[in-house]
Amino acid sequence: MNVLPEIFTKRDELVALRHDLHAHPELAFQEQRTSDRVAAFLAAQGIAVHRGLAGTGVVGVLKCGDSPRAIGLRADMDALPVREQNLFPHRSKHDGRMHACGHDGHTAMLLGAAQYLAAHPDFDGTVVFIFQPAEESDGGARVMIEQGLFQLYPVDAVFGMHNWPGLPAGQFAVHSGPVMACADQFDILLRGHGAHAAMPHQGRDPLLAGAALVQALQSVVSRRLDPLDSAVLSITQFFAGGEAYNIIPAEARIGGTVRTFKPEVEDAIEAAMEHICAGVAAAHGVQATLDYRRGYPPTVNSQAEAALCQDVLSDLVGAPNVLTDAAPSMGAEDFSYMLREKPGCYVWIGNGLAEGGCMLHNPHYDFNDAILPLGSSYWVRLVQKLLAN
Ligand code: NI
Repeated sequence: MNVLPEIFTKRDELVALRHDLHAHPELAFQEQRTSDRVAAFLAAQGIAVHRGLAGTGVVGVLKCGDSPRAIGLRADMDALPVREQNLFPHRSKHDGRMHACGHDGHTAMLLGAAQYLAAHPDFDGTVVFIFQPAEESDGGARVMIEQGLFQLYPVDAVFGMHNWPGLPAGQFAVHSGPVMACADQFDILLRGHGAHAAMPHQGRDPLLAGAALVQALQSVVSRRLDPLDSAVLSITQFFAGGEAYNIIPAEARIGGTVRTFKPEVEDAIEAAMEHICAGVAAAHGVQATLDYRRGYPPTVNSQAEAALCQDVLSDLVGAPNVLTDAAPSMGAEDFSYMLREKPGCYVWIGNGLAEGGCMLHNPHYDFNDAILPLGSSYWVRLVQKLLAN
């Protein structure tokens, strides 16, 4: 393993920083203390600091040489509404808030890289360090982009990294193409005519139409999509009726989620759902209104940047420790918004084997301190490769 010696000697400082962030978790768009710490740390390295995008977002700009080349490196800062069950000294000081996804580690790793690069400006171009709020729920990346992130700080490509429990420490996974799914939601309102349950012919039953629709929608994935594409359509809500046993209700509502890896598959699913809703509603004499809402888009790495990251990581940890065939995750990630704007790559860094079920978002989870210097070294090596003199 090829961790940079100078970063390794400063690992205690990185661990202390990570523990401080872990003990003070903040939820989406409320990362004020974290934002202050990040900004102060960057400023102390002599890095130009810009604040205010998406409220608590922090952008550090480090320019060296004359090259117009620029790359963005992104970390997320927010925590989750989870009650931490760990008992170690750096556990959350705020009941009901927890860094259960390792964003404390992501922030610390990027700060470690910023510190090294500011002290060793042996590259030619601009590094834009992006610390974003609200990855978990509200799309802080999207808000930063909407508020001008890439106009104010133009980059040629953008890079992200997430820890991955279950992947051994010392290993990475790189996907060329999709790495995380989209997370769309839908509601379908069925409007019929209410009636006495003893005289159903006088009404138009939205509940029966809804039951048919739940079944018919299962044909979207099985019959409308290429079997080689991955997708899931789960109906998770079905509301109809009130207290009475003898009334056919006038309305029913169905809700659920769609996950897939390709925007074109997302489009195909939405179109098929429209078609099936209209057809089933017509067959039952009711009206169906589909409200399909796009959530985080699929996270799709560009091939050239994924290949570059794979090269950098192979030099760092050896090719056998860089997985290129790991299955993508049906989870979602708002770095996807950045990858929609710019080419780039989002890699997984092994957090260790997750003994005891300590997956992400688990109340017993903790970021693995041992990988902090490795993550920082990856960022540095990536900059040195992409912005080589
Ligand atoms: Ni996360």
